[in-house]
Amino acid sequence: MRITLVRNDPQDPATTRRYDYELPDVGLSSISSALQLLSRTKDSTIGYYLSCRRGMCACCVVRANGAICTACVTPVVDGMVIEPIRQDIQVCDTVVDLSMAKDHQFAFEDEAP
Ligand code: FES
Repeated sequence: MRITLVRNDPQDPATTRRYDYELPDVGLSSISSALQLLSRTKDSTIGYYLSCRRGMCACCVVRANGAICTACVTPVVDGMVIEPIRQDIQVCDTVVDLSMAKDHQFAFEDEAP
């Protein structure tokens, strides 16, 4: 499985770059599982957030293939592009400051079809 992660450039943290990663076929169930595996096996500096693991808290929110979703309950698929929900509130890689999102009146329903 191959995924693309849009994350901070280690040489210039103020900018982002696309990084392609090859993952083993080990039955990854979610985007969070993929990010954990990447962090544990390929690059421990990858920034991601995980808390309830049940889709309840929204701390793990990411943009996957252009759609905002909670990473812990969204299946990861081959070729998926994973990025922060918004660049202007990005803290590190996929981690964003959700308190700032509220200040900017961000809401999931903005993305609803
Ligand atoms: S960790 Fe809480 S919704 Fe994903």
